[in-house]
Amino acid sequence: MDDHKPIDTPDGPALETPGAGARRFEAPPSDLPITEAEAARLAGLAHNEHLKIASGYLRGGLADGLLKHATGAISEDDGQLVKFHGMYMQDDRDIRAERTKKKLEKAFSFMIRLRIAGGVVTPKQWLALDQIATTYANGTLRATTRQTFQYHGVIKSNLKRTMAAIDAVLLDTIAACGDVNRNVMAATNPAQAGAHKVAYQLAKDISDSLLPKTNAWREIWLDGERVVGGEEEFEPVYGKTYLPRKFKTVVAVPPSNEVDIFAHDLGFIAILDKKNKVTGWNVTVGGGMGMTHGESDTFPRTADVMGFCAPQDALKVAEAVMTVQRDWGNRKNRKNARLKYTIERFGLDAFRAEVENRIGKKLGSPKPFVFDGNGDRYGWVEGDDGRHHLTLYVPSGRIKDVEGGPQFLTGLRRIAEIHEGDFRLTGNQNVIIANVPAGKRAEIEALVDQYAMTKGAGALRRNSMACVALPTCGLALAESERYLPDLLTELEESLASHGLQDEEITIRSTGCPNGCARPFIAEIGLVGRGPERYHLYLGAAFDGSRLSKLYREDVTAAEIRGVLDPLFAAYAKDRQLGEHFGDFVIRAGFVSKTTNGPDFHERTGPLKAA
Ligand code: HEM
Ligand code: SF4
Repeated sequence: MDDHKPIDTPDGPALETPGAGARRFEAPPSDLPITEAEAARLAGLAHNEHLKIASGYLRGGLADGLLKHATGAISEDDGQLVKFHGMYMQDDRDIRAERTKKKLEKAFSFMIRLRIAGGVVTPKQWLALDQIATTYANGTLRATTRQTFQYHGVIKSNLKRTMAAIDAVLLDTIAACGDVNRNVMAATNPAQAGAHKVAYQLAKDISDSLLPKTNAWREIWLDGERVVGGEEEFEPVYGKTYLPRKFKTVVAVPPSNEVDIFAHDLGFIAILDKKNKVTGWNVTVGGGMGMTHGESDTFPRTADVMGFCAPQDALKVAEAVMTVQRDWGNRKNRKNARLKYTIERFGLDAFRAEVENRIGKKLGSPKPFVFDGNGDRYGWVEGDDGRHHLTLYVPSGRIKDVEGGPQFLTGLRRIAEIHEGDFRLTGNQNVIIANVPAGKRAEIEALVDQYAMTKGAGALRRNSMACVALPTCGLALAESERYLPDLLTELEESLASHGLQDEEITIRSTGCPNGCARPFIAEIGLVGRGPERYHLYLGAAFDGSRLSKLYREDVTAAEIRGVLDPLFAAYAKDRQLGEHFGDFVIRAGFVSKTTNGPDFHERTGPLKAA
């Protein structure tokens, strides 16, 4: 597969070849020896590319920066590198202005994200993660939209202690952020237990095999020893420059698309026989959400189904897709660097041919599959192996105790103390208490009730997601997690007034167009533009296979209900049997249909005002 030979891109020669240590930078203007980082600058590469090259396999100045006690921050460059270690430096934006006025440093702290392939944790791990949340973070655990946990508010002086506590329960944060293959998701539907075991195993194998090999994480956070001398550390797959941009992989098991496979760089769709046995995988490539407002050459894109592979080839295919992106991806412009743009540039056929070249065989034609939605199934289900599983609805994935409301933190702690199965996070920020033996079900149910944990919610709410946004996310332009619950209450009233309270409609909100809660594949998408202002997108498919379209620009939070209410009225009156809201708004002419990324920004035809 990767024979460590220089790999030329269709654009020209490769800039840096992993493994071989060989470089193909343009000759410098003098004979003086130059550093690789300098050569990267001369080649016009993005700043992060120089950083990666000069970082000594992701070490940079992190170890020294942690010793600087006069500041709660680390340097800007180390702030980029620390992402590869699963962290983002942030500051509390609610008090930023006040601190600036008092001439104080911003209130810096770190967001720490774990790597939990398939989102599976044991009760023992749960208890440890809970304790870390209350000891070092802000007292909450956040279940994310990509099946893992995040902590918020960890200050610099507690970083190493937090990492040691995470390591003590055999978890880590390596590659949870940064230009690498990130946490690998796997569908969780326990009702098809056999197929899900296979999906989970593939996710775990991909996560392990595409993990960076550098020892930097252990060395910096756990005071691990640095390997010195002849044995230079080596990233056989990534090389010194890792990937041009983040890379996200998921494994889905139809009919559920809860992992939102079309929003990801690489995906595997299980093809099942009549007995629910996995016979192979359809391979998807080139999905992604992020874009920049006002820059139409950036766009979200749904993944293409590229072909079919046999079970024994899946791991090779994953590595080949990632290494083609490693070699062909744009390293000059980070806004054009994700796999979705690589595929747009070179075409799916050329991309597939190169993947086939690297795996040494042809992919088969994609096999038929059907997805019925991208949400979760709440409440109890019994798996085909006789175990029981309870999916809880966790508002915005925030595991905390609310006075007079749900006590998820304490309640799930109590359950972890007696639970014999495991916990699973879903791609919709929810938690499954999984693998409960029949005899334990009543005991778990009693605890769920005692701590007022929600087993479901109204139809709109249970199909909702919000990213974190303010106050921690430095990129947020508007509120998301903090305002969505109130908006949902308003919209639920509006829907009920048209008799639509039981309609399953997906709604997602993010504080900026990076799209962490995948708003562009929700039937109603709200994307922050500025304080209390959102772009409103409509017309995505309920199963997550089609993007939405911009319906209204700069709607204020207070206006959203008024804008949507007439659409709900029309939907109640004119919809066809079984027609989803996202399909209806297109048929009724409120928005035009987006076929894929490049036409996301096109607004064709006179659009009907509601
Ligand atoms: C250029 C694109 C992006 C950037 C720069 C970015 C950056 C960030 C930052 C800074 C956070 C931390 C917010 C906080 O917790 O305070 C975050 C959260 C998160 N992002 Fe992104 N993000 C991008 C796109 C995406 C996309 C497209 C996805 C998913 C498909 C995603 C998945 C997540 C997840 C799972 C979280 C955790 C919080 C949550 O569940 O809401 N990100 N992102
Ligand atoms: S979508 Fe934007 S505001 Fe929301 S978490 Fe992601 S980067 Fe932050």
